[in-house]
Amino acid sequence: MSTRLPSGPSPIVHHPIARAAAYLIGPRGLRDVERLRAEVAGKVVVVTGASYGLGAATAELFAHAGARVVLAARSMDQLRSVATEIAEKGGEAAVYQLDLTSEESVTEFADAVLHDFGGVDYLIHNAGKSLRRSVHLSYDRPKDVNATSGANYVGPMRLTLALLPGMRARGSGHIVNVSTVGVMFGVVPKWGFYLSSKAAFDIWMRAVGMEARGDGVTLTTFYAGLMHTRMSAPSRWMRLLPGQTPLDAARVLARGVVEKPRTLTPVYGHPFAILAPVLRFPMEPILGFVYRRLGDTQASLSRVAAGQSEVARIGVAEKVGAHAE
Ligand SMILES: NC(=O)c1ccc[n+]([C@@H]2O[C@H](COP(=O)([O-])OP(=O)(O)OC[C@H]3O[C@@H](n4cnc5c(N)ncnc54)[C@H](OP(=O)(O)O)[C@@H]3O)[C@@H](O)[C@H]2O)c1
Repeated sequence: MSTRLPSGPSPIVHHPIARAAAYLIGPRGLRDVERLRAEVAGKVVVVTGASYGLGAATAELFAHAGARVVLAARSMDQLRSVATEIAEKGGEAAVYQLDLTSEESVTEFADAVLHDFGGVDYLIHNAGKSLRRSVHLSYDRPKDVNATSGANYVGPMRLTLALLPGMRARGSGHIVNVSTVGVMFGVVPKWGFYLSSKAAFDIWMRAVGMEARGDGVTLTTFYAGLMHTRMSAPSRWMRLLPGQTPLDAARVLARGVVEKPRTLTPVYGHPFAILAPVLRFPMEPILGFVYRRLGDTQASLSRVAAGQSEVARIGVAEKVGAHAE
């Protein structure tokens, strides 16, 4: 099981004080695997984004508790290595390629799962694409729009539409949406693509959850705080802050599935949600000022530059071809 932190976070996040802070900030997970086993043994659990981070740790934890885990993401080699680790420990896992930005891929995935398993008991919307970049750097990058809205909003929405009817018809099922505590804050510069797509799916899923509850299908939204995964690793300052390991957060999802609360958030989530509209006026000018001072990270600038030179190279090659004709 992935108990180690992935490469990225500073060693200080392993310090007992930092670990204690992460525990206090929460939300706290379920440590009793037997309670999870009583809930999920023999049940079909779909985990999107199971190739890395929280998704991989969740798949391992649930398989360890006897669930029949369906692992989905784009990186098949990585999914296979997670599934192999599960199988070596006696668990059951099946891997499927899924690209949430593609309507065709979502349809094929849902059809295959319904065909192979007959239905889904738990659907964990974990896959996500983060983006922290000034908007002017995205003017020529339509893929920023598709990658974030597809992975965080439209794709999970399509997948829910495909799997929910079976759950409602059967009169049981539980959906967990891994959102971000960022949607409970005010708006933050550079995070527009990520936060708006996560917020849109949060709202859509909650509306659907209210409709489906009467048919026995329940919803938990996990407003996750900082997790030390591949996603947060590129932000230097995040590497220094106390945060959850993938296994800590997987245990939170286990609590979500066993106790089925409507929300799971760090301690500061709800207070921020209450204060955000009240503090909008002072916060937006302050954040705007800080943003203008800080600009973009070197990592983000060089990634955009690398993408642009690639586009330029292809453009030149096409022109050469045209002249050659
Ligand atoms: N890390 C944090 O601090 C943090 C904080 C708040 C919320 N969250 C949320 O927690 C969830 C898990 O993130 P993580 O930290 O574990 O990040 P991660 O390690 O980067 O994992 C993200 C997963 O999403 C999958 N994914 C991305 N785009 C996809 C697409 N188009 N189709 C299918 N799968 C896709 C990735 O798999 P492939 O690349 O193989 O497709 C990967 O398995 C996300 O929803 C994220 O928004 C994270």
